[in-house]
Amino acid sequence: MSLWATKSIALLRAEADATGEGTLKKTLGALNLTTLGIGAIIGAGIFVLTGLAAARHAGPAVPLSFVAAGIACAFAGLCYAEMASAVPVAGSAYTYSYATMGEFMAWIIGWDLVLEYAMGASTVGVGWSGYFVGLLENINIHLPAALTSAPFRWCEASEVARAVAGCVTPGLNSTGSIVNLPAIAIVAIMSFVLVVGIKESATVNNFIVALKLTVVALFIVAGAFYINTANWHPFIPPNQGEFGKFGFSGVLRGAGLIFFAYIGFDAVSTAAQEAKNPQKDMPKGILGSLAICTVLYILVSGILTGIMPYTKLDVSHPVGYAVDSIPGLRWMGWMINLGAVLGLASVILVMLLGQSRVFYSMSRDGLLPPWVGKIHPRFRTPWLTQIFVGLFAMFFTGVFPIQLLGELVNIGTLLAFVLVCGGVWILRHTRPDLDRPFKTPWVPVVPILGVLCCAGLMATLPGDTWIRLFVWMAIGLVIYFLYGRRHSTLQTGMDGQKSVR
Ligand code: ALA
Repeated sequence: MSLWATKSIALLRAEADATGEGTLKKTLGALNLTTLGIGAIIGAGIFVLTGLAAARHAGPAVPLSFVAAGIACAFAGLCYAEMASAVPVAGSAYTYSYATMGEFMAWIIGWDLVLEYAMGASTVGVGWSGYFVGLLENINIHLPAALTSAPFRWCEASEVARAVAGCVTPGLNSTGSIVNLPAIAIVAIMSFVLVVGIKESATVNNFIVALKLTVVALFIVAGAFYINTANWHPFIPPNQGEFGKFGFSGVLRGAGLIFFAYIGFDAVSTAAQEAKNPQKDMPKGILGSLAICTVLYILVSGILTGIMPYTKLDVSHPVGYAVDSIPGLRWMGWMINLGAVLGLASVILVMLLGQSRVFYSMSRDGLLPPWVGKIHPRFRTPWLTQIFVGLFAMFFTGVFPIQLLGELVNIGTLLAFVLVCGGVWILRHTRPDLDRPFKTPWVPVVPILGVLCCAGLMATLPGDTWIRLFVWMAIGLVIYFLYGRRHSTLQTGMDGQKSVR
């Protein structure tokens, strides 16, 4: 049967519209969806990667990197909004592509989303560890560095040539550390919470979002008084003879890295089945949370590089470090660290949750083995998958540095965005009749710009990251042809809920 067999949208919608026992509760309104988005968005990107992007790539021009990445996300967000309102079912990009581009592309996206969600949780785990250590230091508890940072760092050939500290050979280099224990611990705790199914109630999420927003607002307001404009000069430091090392290419390379900060608005779409009025509220939730975060990010990154020379921001908890270093701001050091510790923990939770739900959907479609979709009789969660995903994320978060993980997450997520943007355009041709409560404006211009901007950001990422993406996708293809294609309920005709067109 065809690799391009699609799921029927009418049946997907019927599945989503079902109410009663065994279905998800439809309780979320536009405001809840927006806070859900903000909860998933504000995390290691702004709290950690901004510092790295400024110190290594963009300098004080890092707000421009945020603008560039924000533009790409706005195009993708408009496309996600149309998809989420037309196909309001859990599973997000995976399900959209099953409905629009067929099973093969759905597999590619589903496999690719592991890079976004499971690797994303690992990345934020590393960021969490940095702030946790900072918080403990606020109360005079000092953990040994060998147990709180990655044992490896990745060095490019040019860094070895320049004799950058810690870079002996191109590729993985030992840092002298043993393992990032706090990072492993937080991923383990969050996985446990998800296995036993303690519901992350809207109240807890709203509380954490309020805390995150307060901390960020406080930083913006108080920090503005301590800006030393000399730190902004030169705004775009001259290029150091290599793509991405400052200069204009550094701004772009910075955008490729801090794109991570925006990831999460698409997570709103995974809650489509739990929305009261998904058709109207999905676009509001997606675009609203994206808009709020974009403004906050530009302000925070501008102030961060204004209060501290960008060269000093290459640390594990740059925002906390900056306020701790300025006597007039020291009073809020512990608040920033606490806000980040709680805020990043909630991002990890959402990412681990998203991963298990995507695997669950893939297993129900027969693309992954039945045990993956197995629900625990008492906890009613996909527990085996959750544990498996947790172990996977614990390994990566404990061993690798944040930049390496973050870039892999970005390239994977950008690929998913490219496919969703393309999907909107395809669907306009294949299903012009489909009811679209929210329509992406100026089709095909916006989807095309979305594809180009996201592909452009992918192009700024280093060659090594591309190789990792290809290796990951190649492993996925082997699994698909050995297992998924043979067991797919669509291919085996076991599922009446899908159609081949
Ligand atoms: N956007 C999320 C973060 O920055 C993934 O942590």
